[in-house]
Amino acid sequence: MKSSESAAAERTVATHWSELDRARESQELSRFIDEMTVEEQVGQLVQVNYDGPHVLERLREQVRAGRISSVINLVEADVAEELQRIAVSESRLGIPLLFGRDVIHGFRTVFPIPLGQAASWDPEGVRAAARIAAVEAAASGVNWTFAPMVDVSRDPRWGRVAESLGEDPYLAGRLAAAMVEGFQATDPTRVDSLLACAKHFAGYGASEAGRDYNSVNVSERELRDVHLPPFRATLEAGVASVMTAFSDIDGIPATAHRKLLRAILREEWGFDGFVVSDWLSIAELVTHGVARDAADAARQAARAGVDMDMVSSCYADHLASLIERGTVSRSRLDAMTRNVLRAKLRFGLDRRDPADLRGLAAPGCAEHLAQAYASAIASMVLLRNDGALPIDPDAVREIAVIGPLADDGHEQLGTWVFDGDPSLSVTPLAALRERLGDRVRIQHVRALRTTRSRDTEGFGPAVDAARRADVALLFLGEEAILSGEAHSRADIRLPGAQEALMHAVADTGTPVVAVVQSGRPLALSDVIDRAAAWLWAWHPGSMGGAAIADLLLGTASPAGKLPATFPRMSGQVPIYHARRNTGRPARDVVLIDDLPERAPQHSAGNVSFHLDAGTTPLFPFGHGLAYTIFRYDRIEATPPEFDADADIVLSARVTNAGDRPGTDVAQLYVRDLLASVARPVRELKGFVRVHLEPGESRTVRFRLTAADLAFHDSTLERVAEPGEFEAWIGGSSEAELAVRFTLRDGKVES
Ligand code: GLC
Repeated sequence: MKSSESAAAERTVATHWSELDRARESQELSRFIDEMTVEEQVGQLVQVNYDGPHVLERLREQVRAGRISSVINLVEADVAEELQRIAVSESRLGIPLLFGRDVIHGFRTVFPIPLGQAASWDPEGVRAAARIAAVEAAASGVNWTFAPMVDVSRDPRWGRVAESLGEDPYLAGRLAAAMVEGFQATDPTRVDSLLACAKHFAGYGASEAGRDYNSVNVSERELRDVHLPPFRATLEAGVASVMTAFSDIDGIPATAHRKLLRAILREEWGFDGFVVSDWLSIAELVTHGVARDAADAARQAARAGVDMDMVSSCYADHLASLIERGTVSRSRLDAMTRNVLRAKLRFGLDRRDPADLRGLAAPGCAEHLAQAYASAIASMVLLRNDGALPIDPDAVREIAVIGPLADDGHEQLGTWVFDGDPSLSVTPLAALRERLGDRVRIQHVRALRTTRSRDTEGFGPAVDAARRADVALLFLGEEAILSGEAHSRADIRLPGAQEALMHAVADTGTPVVAVVQSGRPLALSDVIDRAAAWLWAWHPGSMGGAAIADLLLGTASPAGKLPATFPRMSGQVPIYHARRNTGRPARDVVLIDDLPERAPQHSAGNVSFHLDAGTTPLFPFGHGLAYTIFRYDRIEATPPEFDADADIVLSARVTNAGDRPGTDVAQLYVRDLLASVARPVRELKGFVRVHLEPGESRTVRFRLTAADLAFHDSTLERVAEPGEFEAWIGGSSEAELAVRFTLRDGKVES
């Protein structure tokens, strides 16, 4: 094994990074690595945090000495430019740096939170938003983003559901792939291309009780069928990096999970990017109770397949001595180094001319805000509408605009907006005032200081305003800080005294329209009937207010569909569409208030439901109304029977049966009616957005292969078993239009 001294002695002229023939990547990297000392290789596996100018001098020295591979949280272009110049032209090997940042749903211009973008079911829009975020972040020196977050979650108590793409693996995979393409651009060497990072590998969305960082207890079958597919989709889109999760899976922390990080990610999937730990997650192996000390943590993470250490210093402090002692092999170190260098090579980080950044569109420019507006419009979901929407400005004299989120440009941005610019925000109140001018009198009453306030002092003026108005717009929901990392809630009703505010305003008899900004689905059973219409805006980003106003006034039409199920109450969670049938599915249930006194033991039926909630959600996955009606008919399976080496087309006709144009998301669900393990009662297998004029019809077609029907059986083999299937096509996961088809024989490659 080469020691650093002998390597230095043998070394004649080091091959500088700039001399590498990128076309011959693999040989060149091996040759290059042979030139590196152990300390220089370890340096390529270290990421440090930039928390202000006081660290700059030390950073310059570490970069010059080749002891750092990446800096996180530096968003000052000139400082990044200086450090990159030192790395490329003053260090011995000239290897460029990665500058990482959480660019999750925008940079200066803020787009809807990822859960909101998922409600658009629009890969094109998601890709466009990521592209703009990349351009704006690159202008600040960032070249690596820690996104997309692809954790599948069925637990809205979990704060990070806000940054997820929802409960469904197929929807999350399609949108995450689009985000990767948006961030990385088609030419990854462009000055505005960011390395993307699929996170958090894996299973983090199943944190027990929805409590962040909590243990995850899922079977390997569920991991492979539910939590891993979206990560696989990002690999197929070329994602440059993967980040490990904080949590343990069945007692094995993801950051030390060799089966996940090497057997599955590398050997099964062939991933050739690099793996970065989450913040301090290598050091936290000691806290998990699986590592004796920081050196042991470094040993376990390196051997498990974590290539780069995010800010824990375990690698910087201990990896070289672990190599010298042979505790971690030199070949393992070479593989880790190669993974990081390969990504830096492919993204041409050393050849990017900062001057080219000057020509990019300015952060917060009209073009970027226009996309933020379009993304916000597409993300909003009309949950219920008893005819109160759209509002005709010529038919009302006075509108009451009430609530803590009617006019708050900060809260509407949501979580993970380190670099967002609230001065760009258009709030709902400002947008309504601008659009209605003096045509309609607007009374604005905040009523509650924050969404958590329990002080009802402000209710009086709100009730008075509602009494005088023709319609009361209630802007409720969650402040940004009530969701996101480490911000889980056990009770997911409207926080504070908002339910009381809703009752007080509704008791005036004035029609109420509820507009909710939130980071998660909320449990609305106690207030759902107090508003004639509910528009779900998530945290809609910079242009959220403009989108809300245009949707309320009908100059835009709602088209969003729920990416996550809405429970009736917190206690129903987890509740989701792709559930299994159980041996006792509930049909008609007897709810708690209907139980006769002294009812006999079995009177409620021995089936699977909650006495106080039943068995159905308040709003199902895929639900969303429009200002028109869509009808589905003529469903067909062509051919009705097919073999594993062929495919099948499932089609249906969708018609706009209303009098306004509109866009629906036609969704395809499939159920495997008989299999070697119990399969979900519905699984999303396709979707397409369809815009139709009144009276217009279109046939939507979904092509499926046997592989699309595959799952992991009880031996963890991925199979598509022959047999009968049922398919539904419609506007939500409760679509009723159905057809059956048969897979005659089924053997698929993994
Ligand atoms: C955080 C998050 C992760 C983020 C990282 C860097 O703790 O878990 O998603 O990318 O640290 O900020």
